[in-house]
Amino acid sequence: MDKFRIEGGKRLEGEVRVSGAKNAALPAMSASLLTADEVKLANVPHVRDIVTMAKLLAHMNAQVQVSPFAPNDVGLHAADEVRPEAPYDLVKTMRAGVLVLGPLLARCGYARVSLPGGCAIGARPVDLHIKALRRLGAEISVEHGYIEARLRRRRRLRGAPVKFEKITVTGTENVMMAAALAEGDTEIFNAAREPEVTDLANLLNAMGATVMGAGTSAIHIHGVEKLHGATHRIIPDRIEAGTLLCAGAITGGELLLTHAEPNHVTALADKLQECGVEVRDEGAGRLRVKAPGASGQQLVAADMTTEEFPGFPTDMQAQFMAVMTQAAGTSVISETIFENRFLHAQEMVRMGAEIEVSGRKAVVTGPAKLTGANVQASDLRASAGLVLAALVAQGETVIDRVYHLDRGYEHLEEKLQAVGAKIERVK
Ligand code: EPU
Repeated sequence: MDKFRIEGGKRLEGEVRVSGAKNAALPAMSASLLTADEVKLANVPHVRDIVTMAKLLAHMNAQVQVSPFAPNDVGLHAADEVRPEAPYDLVKTMRAGVLVLGPLLARCGYARVSLPGGCAIGARPVDLHIKALRRLGAEISVEHGYIEARLRRRRRLRGAPVKFEKITVTGTENVMMAAALAEGDTEIFNAAREPEVTDLANLLNAMGATVMGAGTSAIHIHGVEKLHGATHRIIPDRIEAGTLLCAGAITGGELLLTHAEPNHVTALADKLQECGVEVRDEGAGRLRVKAPGASGQQLVAADMTTEEFPGFPTDMQAQFMAVMTQAAGTSVISETIFENRFLHAQEMVRMGAEIEVSGRKAVVTGPAKLTGANVQASDLRASAGLVLAALVAQGETVIDRVYHLDRGYEHLEEKLQAVGAKIERVK
């Protein structure tokens, strides 16, 4: 198992390119199951979850081709004889595997998809996906760890109003994809407004679907009989961008992010500015972050509550916590999306951070002097939080289980090295 060895205390400075969004690429790849034509995606990050999704699609007889000249260009072709099954072995390592449920059902009238199971950050059920697809006319049973969904006595799903009792990102995406090929109209109420949902709507529309209102909480889909191929560029990864903004802030550095989408990181940028960090949109996808410190100022603590988009993302909570360990004052961090997403706090405490966790709140008091230690990553974003803490810790930190990080960050260590971090992967 790979580890990261990080020598803290280096100020980061320079230019970093933001990769494509994993959480936009995953549903886009699933959407390729909706058509017999080829779907060409650009700006797909080369991370482990994408490889897993590619394997899943290949298992379903889709052809997945990575361009030999541009490794972030991927062609997906589910021409014929789609095998509507997502096995446990592939879905267990990546919950987003459930994203094939809606497309398979719409394309094949049948789907057998393994239940994803729990994960480190919470129980993460898929009951809302199931309920919503039932509203579209699917018969669904859950047996032997598999979701089995079918259409009886009809060829297509039928559009219907779907109201989510709780906002769910992949749930909204699953219904959007299923409804694109349904008979009639579907209205999704209380839909997720995340940019990844809008990106999927744009792809579906390019494939011949009629999806309106994505980015708001009411999405209207007019079902069509057939979709065709399309070419689509995946949006920049707002969580990677956010992680890099925090890397600049925590190391007292100055970074220029390129190929970013500043409008997608507004909540974080506002919060960092509240803490004394300068974040400037320089146009053309460039975003500059400048830590306080030039004239003796320091980071100041601010409270933060995670929310659905456009609020502060739960996927940035661990990284923001790392920054708060270095800020003067007390920061109350409230996690409202997942019930168990503070596992990184204990590891940061082992590095010298002052953090008290009580239920869904963590109180961070800073600035604390962090020192290098052996720590363990527990999930993807927790790993990123630990990397940030290690960047300012005195001495050497060894982060174990970086396979969590590899699920969603493309070449993170190379990107950090290039701007002055001392970080290496130990095989
Ligand atoms: N929920 C239910 N029932 C459901 C679905 C969700 O109770 O059927 C609950 C969840 O347990 C959670 C809340 O609703 O408490 C929101 O979960 P959501 O469904 O929105 O999460 P998701 O779609 O499974 C996506 C991202 C996550 C990100 C969350 C929240 C993808 C592939 N994953 O997950 O990303 O944290 O939205 O923004 O888009 C990550 O990249 O590290 C990651 C975990």
